[in-house]
Amino acid sequence: MRCVNVSNLKPGDVLGRSIYDNRGRALLVEKTVLTQNFIKRLIEHLVVSVYIDDPHCPLGGEDVISQHTRHVAVNTLREIATGISQTSLTRKQDYNRQVSLLVEDIIEELISRKDSLINVIDLKDYDNYTYSHSVNVTVLSVVTGISMGLEHSRLKSLGMGALLHDVGKIFVPLEVLNKPGKLTTEEFAQIKMHPEQGFTKVKEDDILDAPGRAVILQHHEKLDGSGYPSNRRGKDIHELAKIVAIADVYDALTSDRPYRVRWAPAQGLEYIYSIAGSHLEVDLVSKFVRNIAPFPLGSLVQCSNGMIGYVVENEINPHRPILQVGDKKVDLNTELNITITNIVS
Ligand code: C2E
Ligand code: SIN
Ligand code: FE
Repeated sequence: MRCVNVSNLKPGDVLGRSIYDNRGRALLVEKTVLTQNFIKRLIEHLVVSVYIDDPHCPLGGEDVISQHTRHVAVNTLREIATGISQTSLTRKQDYNRQVSLLVEDIIEELISRKDSLINVIDLKDYDNYTYSHSVNVTVLSVVTGISMGLEHSRLKSLGMGALLHDVGKIFVPLEVLNKPGKLTTEEFAQIKMHPEQGFTKVKEDDILDAPGRAVILQHHEKLDGSGYPSNRRGKDIHELAKIVAIADVYDALTSDRPYRVRWAPAQGLEYIYSIAGSHLEVDLVSKFVRNIAPFPLGSLVQCSNGMIGYVVENEINPHRPILQVGDKKVDLNTELNITITNIVS
């Protein structure tokens, strides 16, 4: 099994995993032989990438969180985003309970995972960017929190804050959010209001505890004081907001956006390193990166000697995985003269 971008699918490819729509209904089931029509349907549903069977690449990473939990999360976010402005107090308390239960489930699933690395291809999904981005940021933040040994109540605040970190974007016009090009100063000024707007909203509605709200307010602050909304620096930025800031930038970079295509995991990680110390907290970055596979299982890479292969093992040494090249395996951990030069897909 390997992961391919929908634009690279060919009729005859066989689905390695079922594809669900945003209500959790199966669009296409595992083992479906794709036709031109099926591929068109995937594109219409904004599916970004899918797993297909490939005899040369028998492995795929496990789901980081279950499809079910992911759908519940996306639907809860959609419900909150569309209903948050007009609903009654009981409904709002209900949201708080829903988010709380959901984050409990996510924490439990992440604590019991078997794979030690996140094969980030797994996180990629169709659907509205803001919602699935928020779920990804939650997963990446909680995984980081777990590896830091944060206690349960802290993980809970972290997860709830991460899930709602961009809730203030409901006040930003969609034509600005989805603009295919660079933003004007005025448009970016509108975007820059989302942390405060989200914070005000959850406070008014009495959702989240104080650390969770700090995540929403401070996730765009930077260590050197160049962030927004308040130019907070270093220790004046809440620790949980610093974790979410890392997850936010990493997931944004590795996602397709209306204004650019996504970066590969290895490039996303490199960028995170490049802003550690100035924008992001170094200690937290080193904890974050340890959980991410720079070369996810099933990705296709090109090497310095010209060979192209699929990543089939990446836990022994994440930066020097074992590749399947044709019908032989090449272990980059022993072939030290060969380096990965390019990620093909
Ligand atoms: P987002 O897309 O979720 O991105 C979150 C953060 O990830 C960004 O915060 C930025 O720190 C980082 N990031 C995302 N994409 C890139 C990139 O291509 N290069 C670099 N170096 N960093 C990136 P930031 O900049 O404060 O932006 C906040 C939000 O504003 C973004 O959330 C997005 O919704 C919007 N935005 C930012 N730039 C653009 C743009 O050029 N066009 C459009 N349409 N929206 C943009
Ligand atoms: C940037 O370089 O402006 C984006 C990354 C960040 O600092 O959060
Ligand atoms: Fe944001």
